[in-house]
Amino acid sequence: MNGTVQLHTKRLLLRRVTSEDTAILHRELGCNPEMIRYTCWNPYATLESTGVKVENDIQGYEKEGCYAWIIQYGENVIGTIGAYGYDSGMSSIELGYSIFQKYWGLGFASEAAAEVVRYLIIGEKINRVHAWCHADNAASAKVLMHAGMKEEGLLRQAMKNPDGSYADQKIFGIVRKDYTG
Ligand SMILES: CC(C)(COP(=O)(O)OP(=O)(O)OC[C@H]1O[C@@H](n2cnc3c(N)ncnc32)[C@H](O)[C@@H]1OP(=O)(O)O)[C@@H](O)C(=O)NCCC(=O)NCCS
Repeated sequence: MNGTVQLHTKRLLLRRVTSEDTAILHRELGCNPEMIRYTCWNPYATLESTGVKVENDIQGYEKEGCYAWIIQYGENVIGTIGAYGYDSGMSSIELGYSIFQKYWGLGFASEAAAEVVRYLIIGEKINRVHAWCHADNAASAKVLMHAGMKEEGLLRQAMKNPDGSYADQKIFGIVRKDYTG
């Protein structure tokens, strides 16, 4: 497996995370409550926790099945995308992503996710890529379907909203035979 190699799409560069990305990731992902409205998880909440996340991503590049990219549009960092929890026995992995709010609605998440799914299945020969999203996160559900995933089910009250109330979680997945026919 080749891990987090540089990838290109029509408009985007996907590259490895460096420690120089820490400040912008904290500012754009950690300080905007809209970013965690549907994820309820914020490793970028403080500059310190962002540094830990960035360091973990960098160390992950040495391990099998750890993927973390910065999404860049021209010179601008616009988000992150990665894949986690690689199961070598099942040949499966989970996809996750975030786009900075000022770049929402421009098709960037769909473009990046489609390329990463292609790379994981064709390049890295992983059989199954799956993802979850909050049942109300319509934009994320569309991103996953644009990447070729199918909606596989609903886990009721499997996550919490920022106010502590329960929320349903949609599960999406794609397997190699969906991709290659
Ligand atoms: C979810 C997220 C990644 C989408 O990023 P994006 O770059 O705006 O997504 P795209 O532009 O590729 O849009 C995907 C689709 O969602 C639609 N969409 C965008 N915002 C929407 C909204 N609020 N409600 C419904 N649909 C929406 C777009 O119109 C597009 O559909 P289309 O191609 O059929 O027109 C971004 O909103 C985000 O980072 N949110 C916070 C973090 C997060 O939720 N991450 C995902 C965790 S599961």
